[in-house]
Amino acid sequence: MKRIGILTAGGDTPALNATIQGAVARCNQLKIEIFGFIKGFNSLFNPKVPHVHLNPLYQEIPEIDPTKGGTLLGSSRDYVDPEDHGVLDKIVDRLKRLGIEGLICVGGDGTLNGLQPIAERIPAVLAPKTIDNDLGLNYPSEPDEWVRTPDAKVKDGFRYKRTEPGVIFNLNHIVNYVTPGFATAVFVTATGVERIRTTAESHRRIAIIEVMGRHSGYIALGSAYGRPDMVLVPEHPFSLEYLVERVKHLYDLQKNVVIICGEGIVDESGEEFGAETKSTDPAGNIALSGAAEALRAKLIQMIPDRYFQLYRRGESAREAIFTRKIGHTQRGGRPILFDRFYAAQQGGKAVELLVEGQNNAVAVLQYTSTKGFYVDGYDANRFRDRWGLIHARQMPAALYDSKHMKPSALGIEYLLPIFTDAIGDDDMEHTRQTLFAAGNLAQPYHSINTDINKRIRCIEADVVAAQKAA
Ligand code: F6P
Repeated sequence: MKRIGILTAGGDTPALNATIQGAVARCNQLKIEIFGFIKGFNSLFNPKVPHVHLNPLYQEIPEIDPTKGGTLLGSSRDYVDPEDHGVLDKIVDRLKRLGIEGLICVGGDGTLNGLQPIAERIPAVLAPKTIDNDLGLNYPSEPDEWVRTPDAKVKDGFRYKRTEPGVIFNLNHIVNYVTPGFATAVFVTATGVERIRTTAESHRRIAIIEVMGRHSGYIALGSAYGRPDMVLVPEHPFSLEYLVERVKHLYDLQKNVVIICGEGIVDESGEEFGAETKSTDPAGNIALSGAAEALRAKLIQMIPDRYFQLYRRGESAREAIFTRKIGHTQRGGRPILFDRFYAAQQGGKAVELLVEGQNNAVAVLQYTSTKGFYVDGYDANRFRDRWGLIHARQMPAALYDSKHMKPSALGIEYLLPIFTDAIGDDDMEHTRQTLFAAGNLAQPYHSINTDINKRIRCIEADVVAAQKAA
């Protein structure tokens, strides 16, 4: 292989540049050229295919910085429609005109769905990323547990549902134990919980903190590191009466309560608390918002104002109960050591998979209690259900203790290998040295996009240059 391409697709994570750096470093060792495509699949839809040569003379360009969040290549939620053969043929023709012999897509479950039809035309592999930690399998046979029922109201005419798990869950059998971006997102949410706690304590308030993750509760689970009193996850419908009972018990005891809620939490009838909006990414994913606000409204209805007045802790439930969304700070900024280290390894592994001729494979991060973490290749076809779809992974029931609304003993066992040494000394030192640097006040922000812009080339220009050289 002489030249490959790489793109970053879907919602960004803090570890994307680390994955790119790992891929470029491996290409340099193997003397392979690597081109980066601008704004994910969007570049491939554009006849000019804007791209950047990431390793001229097999040296990485200086803009590649694995400690910087976001992606120097840009990302988009552009959708590759597997049925649109015309567009797919054009994409592959463009890649071939650029001499690209294999493609690495850095993305989540949506990107992996989008990659399927491309892999039928040109070798393509996935290097995973997503803060939601929902790209993977809780056990290898999980895709076989999906069933579908016709429903004219949904896109494609079918509704997909998981049946009861058919295996005993075992941490050693997880495929892709954790995805790049998850650790940093949890670092941000756990820090947020700690900060909100002390203000809730001081003012005798009840805080509901909403975290991302769509229908997957992994981020909410990990946020338990910030020691909230309760963690509500989308996978476990809960009774509001039970929640209120626990809230009152804790409030009586400690005069403040902190609740983490995943944005996709559902009530006992399975109805989402938050609102859904359509998003355009390849999996047809939806964006969720407003769960914390909706939960607050319920608590206000169920806990009378006099409850707060009785103890002189506030005038009303409305005043005492507040919400905060951690929001996009979960997705941005410097990745912590765990993410940087393994994202780079997965990027390097993706290059190796292409070189080994493993088309339609995923560079997964595996973990076993005996071996620790290691990267491996996994056939993407094994992620697909019997109809060919790749579903977002949900958090297994065994990781959550629904009585205490906290991680279960197994949930704690799951989190420990990821987080015990997740923060590097340099992560803290970086904050110490850079956040209050005097130059921050005087100098404008210098965007990576400004520098990358100067390196972007387009296909027409390349063809003209090649013709001139001939
Ligand atoms: O999938 C990543 C994610 O951050 C989800 O956790 C969240 O629901 C969604 O993307 C938000 O999307 P957007 O950035 O388009 O609002």
